[in-house]
Amino acid sequence: MNIAVVGPGSMGLLLAARLKQAGAPVHLLDYRPERAAHINGQGVILEHGEGSDTHAIPAWAEPAELAGMDLAVVCTKAYHTQEVARVLGRHLAPEARALTLQNGAGNVEALVEALGEERVLGGITSEGATLLGHGKVRHAGHGQTHIGPASGPVDEFTIQVLDLLLAAGFEASATEGVQDLIWTKLVINVGINPLTALLEVKNGRLLELPAARRLMADAVKEAVAVGQARGIRFLHSDMLAAVEDVARRTGANVSSMLQDIRAQRRTEVDYINGAVVRAGDEQGVPTPVNATITNLVKAKQADYLSE
Ligand code: PAF
Repeated sequence: MNIAVVGPGSMGLLLAARLKQAGAPVHLLDYRPERAAHINGQGVILEHGEGSDTHAIPAWAEPAELAGMDLAVVCTKAYHTQEVARVLGRHLAPEARALTLQNGAGNVEALVEALGEERVLGGITSEGATLLGHGKVRHAGHGQTHIGPASGPVDEFTIQVLDLLLAAGFEASATEGVQDLIWTKLVINVGINPLTALLEVKNGRLLELPAARRLMADAVKEAVAVGQARGIRFLHSDMLAAVEDVARRTGANVSSMLQDIRAQRRTEVDYINGAVVRAGDEQGVPTPVNATITNLVKAKQADYLSE
């Protein structure tokens, strides 16, 4: 299966390097030609517990290359998904499919709009990855990955993608009910990402700060209420315990949102806590804590973005 990983951010690089290591024909697609050229020259460098490896992975800046792919794995920031979906719709072969492993809500929907339900898989991962520079990533903590088709039962194609992930060393499973997966991960990001970004602490530190822990509990409670109003069946009966467990297991991790703040990039808060607020408005479920947290992160990133 020919694979294009779209977006050479931390998760895209980790995935591409591990797939390459497993012998899969993997490529990277980047919208920035200078970064793609850098990755072609240097390779993808993966730092891990035992040292580091360099992988020669072709990086393209030209989306027409997607025509020969069987699978595009979307790993960009959520605010780029609409544009990526349009590019995939234009350039992927009609039988090729897309898998999103992004953070946040709305990514599956954007891909479905461009490609149709039967060509989209969604998924979540709690692998920890830290971007160290162009084409350079640290595998910061092991997690679990779950994938599933946008609609209907797990099919043959989903199993093939699962086998690839397993061969690449990911602890992965396939299941139906992709929105249940995505909302479960969303609630984890709701509880961890903005608080680490606002307080500028690693994930594990949140559990040592009683006030942060209270905020986490309040934000998670709202997000769970919104999800339940939408008919989501969460993967864990106690979502707060699940969020705390991820914070503990990825304790040494700098969350993706804190990485964004440190690198002065736009954060995904609109697609995480902001998505909970929008969905809450639709369902008539109040979300004052998530609204406040969203505004605080937006005020923080306004320091360096012209918003
Ligand atoms: O966005 C992140 O940083 C990750 O999804 C997670 C699981 C919170 C670990 O840092």
